[in-house]
Amino acid sequence: MSRPVISATGLYTPPNSISNAELVESFNAWADQWNAQNADDIAAGRVQPKPHSSVEFIEKASGIKARYVVDKDGVLDPKRMTPNIAERPNEQISILAEIAVKSAQEALAKAGREGKEIDAVICAASNMQRAYPAMAIEVQAALGAQGFAFDMNVACSSATFGIQTAADFVRAGHAKTVLMVNPEICSGHLNFTDRDSHFIFGDVSTAVLVESDDRAPKGGWSILGTHLKTVFSNNIRNNFGFLNRGDPDGVGKSDKLFVQEGRKVFKEVVPMVAAMINEEMDRLGIKSAELRRMWLHQANAGMNRLIAERVLGHEATEDESPTVLDTYANTSSAGSIIAFHKHSADFKPGEKGLICSFGAGYSAGTVFVEKTA
Ligand code: COA
Repeated sequence: MSRPVISATGLYTPPNSISNAELVESFNAWADQWNAQNADDIAAGRVQPKPHSSVEFIEKASGIKARYVVDKDGVLDPKRMTPNIAERPNEQISILAEIAVKSAQEALAKAGREGKEIDAVICAASNMQRAYPAMAIEVQAALGAQGFAFDMNVACSSATFGIQTAADFVRAGHAKTVLMVNPEICSGHLNFTDRDSHFIFGDVSTAVLVESDDRAPKGGWSILGTHLKTVFSNNIRNNFGFLNRGDPDGVGKSDKLFVQEGRKVFKEVVPMVAAMINEEMDRLGIKSAELRRMWLHQANAGMNRLIAERVLGHEATEDESPTVLDTYANTSSAGSIIAFHKHSADFKPGEKGLICSFGAGYSAGTVFVEKTA
C-alpha cells in the first residue's frame, strides 16, 4: 500500500491588508450614520443605538491585528460594508479558482511538479462561490490536471478533512498526486456591520500537495495518522443557500452571513479538540515531548493557548504553537495550513508536528506529520 506524504504547500496572500484601526474607523462611521438615520426610534426607545467597536477589544479578545482582503475599498466604505467583487462572465476564471490556482502554483513549483502530473483536485473550503460546476474542476482545467476533481465544505475544518481524503485516495491507489486547495474569501460571508464579529475573518488561499511516497520528492512530510470528528452545533451558522437567500433589501440578511455564539464556541470546542488530540497521540504512540510543533487552526489566540497547554502540559511558546492571527486573522480552513507553510522550514528529519483544525459543525481534524530526509 502506498504511504501518503505532504510533498509541498503553497500560499496566496491578497495584496490589501486592513488594520484594526482602519476597520474600527469604518465600523464606527457606519454606526454613527445608522444612529443618525434612526435617531427618532432611538430617542423613543424603540431601538438601541449601535455602540462603537474598539481596537483594544479586538486585539485582547482575539489576537487579531490585521487581515488581508481581496477588496479593501468596499469593506471600508461605511455606505457599503461589504467587498466589491464584480461578477465575472462564465468564460473568465472565477475569483475563487483564480486564487486557488495561485496557491497551487507555488506548491507545484516547490515539489517540481507540473499540472498534468496531478491525478485529483479537491477544493476544500467554507465559502464556495457557487453550487456548480465545482471550483475544483475549474482549477483542474486551469492547471491542465488529469483525473477527477470535486468541492467539499467542512467549514473551518475543510483542510484537514481534505488532507485525510487525499491521503485515503493515495492509500487506496486511486491517485498518486492529489492537489488540495483552500481558497477562502471570508470577507464575502462576514457581516461587517456586526460589532461582535466584524473583525474576525480575512481572505487567502492555501494549497497542499499529497503524494504517494514512491513518487514524492525527498524532504516531504510523512502523514503518520489522521482523525476527523463532527458534533452537531448551532453555535456557528451561515444559513445562506439557494433555498435561503434573504431578500435584496437585507431583511433577514443577518443569518445569511456568518453568525456565532463566540463564548459558547470557545467553551465547547477547546475541551473537544484537546481531548481529540490527546486520544490520537495515544493511538499513534506519540508522547507530547516528541511533538515539536502544533500548527493549530487560527481562530482565536486564547483558544490556541488553552488547547496547546492541555496537549503539551505547559504553556506553549510561539515556537511550539505559532500564530498567524496577527497578520491574517481567521482565514477559516486555510489558517492551520498558513501556519504550517510559514513555520515548518526549520524542521529536521524525524521531527513530528500536528496540523489541527476546528470550527463550524462542530468539526475538527488532526493530521500528525513527520519530516522525512
Ligand atoms: N468592540 C468592543 N466591544 C465589543 C466588541 C467590539 N468589536 N464586540 C463585542 N464587544 C463587547 C460585548 O458587547 C461584550 O460587552 P458586555 O460585557 O457589556 O456584554 C464584551 O465585549 C464581551 O463580548 P464577548 O462576545 O463575550 O467577547 P469574548 O471575550 O467572548 O470574545 C470572540 C469574542 C468572538 C473573540 C471570542 O468569543 C471567540 O473568539 N470565540 C471563538 C470564536 C471562534 O473560534 N469561532 C470559530 C469561527 S471558525
